[in-house]
Amino acid sequence: MCGIIGATGLDDVVDLLVEGLERLEYRGYDSAGLVLTFPSGLWRVRAADGTRSVSALRELAASAPGGARAGLGHTRWATHGHPSIENAHPLFDCTGRVAVVHNGIIENHAEIGARLQAAGHTPTSATDTEVLAHLIEEHMGTGQSLAESVRAALLVVRGSFSIAVVSADEPELLVAARRNTPLVLGLTDGAALLASDIPALLGRTKRLFVLADDQLAELRPGSVRVTTLAGEEVDPPALSVDWDLAAAQKGGYEDFMSKEIREQPRAVADTLLDRRRPDGSLTLDEARLSDDDLQKITKVYIVACGSSYHAALLAKYAIEHWARVAAEVDIASEFRYRDPVLDPAALAVGVSQSGESLDTLLALREARRRGARVLAVTNVVDSSIAREADAALYTRAGPEICVAATKTLLAQIVALELLALTLAQVRGTRSAEEIGHIIDSLHRLPEMIEDVLSREKEVDQVAEALAGARDFFYLGRNVGYPVALEGALKLKELSYLHAEGYPAGELKHGPIALIEPGTVVVGIATRNPLWEKFQSNIAEVKSRGATVVLVANDGDERAEALADHVLWVPEAEQLLAPVVDIVPLQLFAYRLARLHGLDVDRPRNLAKTVTVE
Ligand code: AGP
Repeated sequence: MCGIIGATGLDDVVDLLVEGLERLEYRGYDSAGLVLTFPSGLWRVRAADGTRSVSALRELAASAPGGARAGLGHTRWATHGHPSIENAHPLFDCTGRVAVVHNGIIENHAEIGARLQAAGHTPTSATDTEVLAHLIEEHMGTGQSLAESVRAALLVVRGSFSIAVVSADEPELLVAARRNTPLVLGLTDGAALLASDIPALLGRTKRLFVLADDQLAELRPGSVRVTTLAGEEVDPPALSVDWDLAAAQKGGYEDFMSKEIREQPRAVADTLLDRRRPDGSLTLDEARLSDDDLQKITKVYIVACGSSYHAALLAKYAIEHWARVAAEVDIASEFRYRDPVLDPAALAVGVSQSGESLDTLLALREARRRGARVLAVTNVVDSSIAREADAALYTRAGPEICVAATKTLLAQIVALELLALTLAQVRGTRSAEEIGHIIDSLHRLPEMIEDVLSREKEVDQVAEALAGARDFFYLGRNVGYPVALEGALKLKELSYLHAEGYPAGELKHGPIALIEPGTVVVGIATRNPLWEKFQSNIAEVKSRGATVVLVANDGDERAEALADHVLWVPEAEQLLAPVVDIVPLQLFAYRLARLHGLDVDRPRNLAKTVTVE
């Protein structure tokens, strides 16, 4: 996945492109490039410098000639072809008068490329994208306009794309199109803009529009025309954005991760706002699911990836325990290939902070194809997953820029717990008093998270003591198990250290063979009915020489006696505790990564939004 930015009609187009790419770096940063249009031809610079690509591009762009009519920028996360200058976008056709930037994958690029080469085209990159430039060149060669040539080219490609194209023949025109990956359009009085994501445009305009799948946009200074790929005119829906650029910037913190970790109490509190009717009962009005709809549900299928999958696992405990509805959780990329059995009385829930993860989007499409109602739980209003779903429940965490999910995860857990409680209410499996009590407990979570954040220095000390360790096992039982998975994922992503998450009871069935002196075991040991058994699991690893770190509730003497280090947290209700217990693990992974001198916001090989399968 990659970041795309484009503009026409601006005097300072180079500044917009570079600033936009800086805000889109979270989508990938293997290489970066930009192209400017002039009636005489195109001017292009590219850099392939790992996490420095965009800053290297800024330096190169300083020598751009003035008077450009329009331009496109791109920051790349490599799929086809190494991260290199040759493979960096924008990519040209044979004439050098057409340039293309692309996010996604052209699945039939090999067959199209072979035909184009036989017809005399010469590729200069190993990317799947370049065929688009040559296909457009072919059509323009027959006298078609740039827009018609892009439309014709897209009719023969398979796969996913957001693309933007410029040509020296029509230097004020940007042509863009999308299928399955995001693209946002923006307008000002004299300019038109496009980008993969909203923060890249927010500094310039809030007049934003969504381009939907299989639509094509022609952007000229001050105007946008949208048609379907089949050629029908479309009025693109305006996008409502209730946050500003400041919210999408670092706000004085050293990095986005620190800022976003500290925004967690707010994210949880905002996600809980306005969920009760005057009579105290719970409502998910915004989700557009009636009580009647919820009553009829016979089974819940939840699909998600990465951290969102961990939120989904936690939702299973809540839905089954409170609402007594069977819930299945699938890794989204596996779901649609396992021939699942669904029926119209099933509710499929897709959990995705970005609302753009292609694996989740495709899993939900499959669920719908098999008759299920589809609910999106996402942080991004009008994202692809939200728009395709029958209903949407929004987390209200604000924009998350750091590649590693933090505040959006906590907000997801809370939103899914609200869903579980709503199911319990309409199905009568929990009394109004019980539900009211749990909601009150949910409202106490922001304060508990603040409390954990205030103990950051203690977490830092534990991280410093373990800075030399290379192997980490995270263990938990019951809801502590997804917390363990999340703790291990955060450590892997941020510090590149070997980390595994396991249900503690499973360790003795194999993984315990890996425990030796020097291995660090991080146990989620907050109070729950399995504490005694968990204690035995920890004793087993301790006797094999592991260094033990426990996340434990304040005042727990057993934990203190058992552990080498304790990460203390206040005690929350059992099913809500993950929202608190995850926080010290985020701080721990953050500090270890910083101690190893790593860039926490942009870990290697990763991207914030994964819009490829
Ligand atoms: C989390 O820290 C990761 N960056 C990643 O696992 C992420 O949760 C996953 O890619 C899912 O993204 P989504 O929530 O936007 O769908």
